[in-house]
Amino acid sequence: MTQTNEEKLSLADGRLPVYAANPYALYQRLRENDPVYWDERANSWVLTRYADVAPALRDARFSASGFMEDISWIPDDMRPMLEPPIRALTRQMLFMDPPDHTRLRGLVARAFTPRVVEGLRPAIKQIASDLLDHAQAQGHMELIRDYAFPLPAIVIATMLGVPPEDRDQLNAWSESFGALLDGSNLSMENAFLALHGVSEFIAYFRQIIHQRRNAPRDDLLQAMINAEEQGDTLSEEELLGNCVLIMAAGHGTTLHLIGNGTLALLRNPRQLQQLKAEPALMPSAVAELLRYDSPVQMTSRRAKEDMQIGNKHISEGQEVTMCTGAANHDPAQFSDPDRLRLNRPENRHLSFGLGIHFCLGAPLARLESEIAFHTLLRRFPNLRLASEEVAWESSLVFRGLKQLPVLLD
Ligand code: HEM
Repeated sequence: MTQTNEEKLSLADGRLPVYAANPYALYQRLRENDPVYWDERANSWVLTRYADVAPALRDARFSASGFMEDISWIPDDMRPMLEPPIRALTRQMLFMDPPDHTRLRGLVARAFTPRVVEGLRPAIKQIASDLLDHAQAQGHMELIRDYAFPLPAIVIATMLGVPPEDRDQLNAWSESFGALLDGSNLSMENAFLALHGVSEFIAYFRQIIHQRRNAPRDDLLQAMINAEEQGDTLSEEELLGNCVLIMAAGHGTTLHLIGNGTLALLRNPRQLQQLKAEPALMPSAVAELLRYDSPVQMTSRRAKEDMQIGNKHISEGQEVTMCTGAANHDPAQFSDPDRLRLNRPENRHLSFGLGIHFCLGAPLARLESEIAFHTLLRRFPNLRLASEEVAWESSLVFRGLKQLPVLLD
């Protein structure tokens, strides 16, 4: 049987310019064509229906582990340098199953309480205000560089207790980590470069942790070092891996929520007007902005046993990509899904995942973005896009803008 173009559609087509601007059109075609399909180019099953993605995220028959376990591709002479960072990366809670995941998440969550997050409110407001003072003084703003990037970067660096002046370096390392997570598009050379960046990232934290053991301070990193539950502690490798995760997850994603969210608001002036008139709408608005154009579009797991999804047989060991971005725009779950509706009721979006790996930083991300949008709109009520043309990052997993030039008044 000859394949039609429709049958050959792949998630990888998300890199075509037309779908980079609007991946939801691609997801819709994939969902209508075959909502549970084997994607040759992605080497994975792909789920695009909300009714399949949400239960799969909670399904204990899937494993999140196995990330980078196969290191056979690394030449022998590079192993001594690259093995330690890889080992630390595999100790991140995101790539663990119970019972290890339960223990690690419990330990880190104790250092990441709602009280700690709420306590950051005044500091986050101050950071947002200072950044906008600076932009106002300049008279123009590139919103990603001047606001969406530095705000969460300063917050997470302050929270962890690393010097804010190291943040450009930390960002470069976080990007290396992101590139590894999104490995689908990595050449061998870039994989080495990314791993090298991550090993420097880990060496940096190793040094800070050693300093802390001699001179404790009062911050998240110290709380993680001290975390102890029923006599259990985080090993140094677990500590390092999860510092990298929190630093990288804590800032790349929130950056894109502020960027994608501002773009969505500016492109939907009536919704923006409503938000300005009713600031109490903000929590619901942030949920809708997360659903409408999420910074994380998909995640994947491996089947621990043979199983059936829809009318397809999935074999043990096969990878399954759960396309949360597609589920967020599934008309069977969300009425008129491509429309931004800041007061959307019953908004059970999947942008923070679901189940045991549900985003640990969700309360912080919500608080940061609520403050970011509120401060931005209050300070610059005439904020406008400087251009209708925008450029997107090339990743399929993470969705965000390269730049967003805006006019302030
Ligand atoms: C808008 C911002 C954010 C989005 C969209 C987001 C999204 C996600 C998603 C989808 C997952 C689950 C991934 C999976 O199931 O494979 C996740 C997990 C996680 N996120 Fe976030 N995140 C955001 C902000 C943050 C922040 C600010 C932090 C920390 C400071 C953070 C830390 C984590 C951690 C530690 C996990 C792993 C949880 C686990 O495995 O149990 N995230 N995030």
